[in-house]
Amino acid sequence: MRMQWNGWALAACAVGISSMAHAAPPSPAMLSNACAGCHGTLGGSAGPSMPSLASQSKHAIVEAMKKFKSGERPSTIMGRIAKGYSDADFAAMGEFFSKQKAHFPEQKFDAAKADKGGLVQEKHCGRCHIDDGKDGKEDTPITAGQWLPYLQIQMDQYLSGKRRMPEKMAEKVKPLSKEDLDAVMHFYASSK
Ligand code: HEC
Ligand code: HEC
Repeated sequence: MRMQWNGWALAACAVGISSMAHAAPPSPAMLSNACAGCHGTLGGSAGPSMPSLASQSKHAIVEAMKKFKSGERPSTIMGRIAKGYSDADFAAMGEFFSKQKAHFPEQKFDAAKADKGGLVQEKHCGRCHIDDGKDGKEDTPITAGQWLPYLQIQMDQYLSGKRRMPEKMAEKVKPLSKEDLDAVMHFYASSK
């Protein structure tokens, strides 16, 4: 009789555990699914105004999300999206995308500008935008293989003051001409 009662208690307990499992936080992959329509299931951008997140450092993704959420970084859509997530979610999604393989879409760029931009990047930007933009120091995002229109929008936002440049980046960017900076964007678009 007693044994049977224990059996019921055990069954009730199992029900309790399984309903807890339903309330558990979603996995990083499930969270990141909400980003797939624009950033691809594995972090490869779905279109020219959107960045790829694959292989971006966790640090860079978390910092970008915090800046979107606070409104410090201007956005068309990310400000609204970022408001729906916590810092722990940012970390989980950052971890997920940082582990995906870098994505290089086929795209058009001006080869002469890209050649010139490569020299400018090496001299002025390569300290943080490491390995031709395929890697980044600390919170520096990946720029290699991003769509040219996306890169040009971001550079315009920096130059117009809408998006705030890190001080050390501004020191390098400010003395350069618009043409030289645009050449670097062509270089990043060509870099794989
Ligand atoms: C409807 C399309 C859309 C969805 C959905 C979306 N994004 Fe974005 N994302 C963008 C666009 C567009 C930008 C460029 C900034 C802007 O205009 O909002 C961007 C920029 C970013 C950046 C900056 C990357 C860089 O290189 O600077 C990060 C990080 C990011 N998104 C993460 C996410 C995460 C994480 C999710 C899912 C929770 C998500 N995005 C969902 C469209 C989207
Ligand atoms: C001291 C380090 C540093 C240097 C030098 C630097 N950058 Fe950056 N760059 C960063 C960081 C950090 C970010 C992200 C900052 C933010 O949140 O806006 C960034 C972002 C960018 C972005 C936006 C990418 C994206 O996906 O949002 C572009 C474009 C860019 N840099 C171009 C350049 C160019 C061109 C140069 C050289 C003339 C340069 N940077 C020099 C650190 C640097």
